[in-house]
Amino acid sequence: MYGLVQQGFGRGSKELGCPTANLPEEAILPMTSQCKAGIYYGYARVHQPPHGAPVDLGERSIEVHPMVMSLGWNPFYKNEKMTAEVHVIHKFEKDFYGHEISVVVLGYIRPELDYTSREALIEDIAMDIRVTLNSLARPAYTKFKDDTSWAHAMIK
Ligand SMILES: Cc1cc2nc3c(=O)[nH]c(=O)nc-3n(C[C@H](O)[C@H](O)[C@H](O)COP(=O)(O)O)c2cc1C
Repeated sequence: MYGLVQQGFGRGSKELGCPTANLPEEAILPMTSQCKAGIYYGYARVHQPPHGAPVDLGERSIEVHPMVMSLGWNPFYKNEKMTAEVHVIHKFEKDFYGHEISVVVLGYIRPELDYTSREALIEDIAMDIRVTLNSLARPAYTKFKDDTSWAHAMIK
């Protein structure tokens, strides 16, 4: 998937300690038309905007990083629209709204759930991150980190 990072409701960073990059609707259609809602993992690459970038993210931030994504309606927050929210597992120093992002989805973790408390959702997100890092450590996945052609395939 590929698109420009959109602003979400801002709850990910503030309430859950887990900032997410929201993908635009047209970017998620190829996936939502074929796959069920749920939590998925893979890799993401945030791109530096060309010439005279307003926000220079630095060399490390524009590398390929593991990502964990929530695709669906966020039952805990009862969203009315389906969204794809990508948590890139890397400590970014700056926000990157409006930057291009490429995402390759490699595996499914679990369905989206409703929770009785925010703490329980936070605990499951921490587990999703561990599952992601353990899964991507398998040899068959490392090729997506070494060969980043997928991250350029959709850029016009
Ligand atoms: C790894 C991960 C797992 C998530 N799991 C759930 C879930 O099971 N149920 C749910 O309602 N929302 C889930 N969310 C979505 C969060 O509720 C959502 O990212 C948060 O509301 C922030 O949205 P915002 O950036 O639009 O404010 C998950 C998000 C991530 C990154």
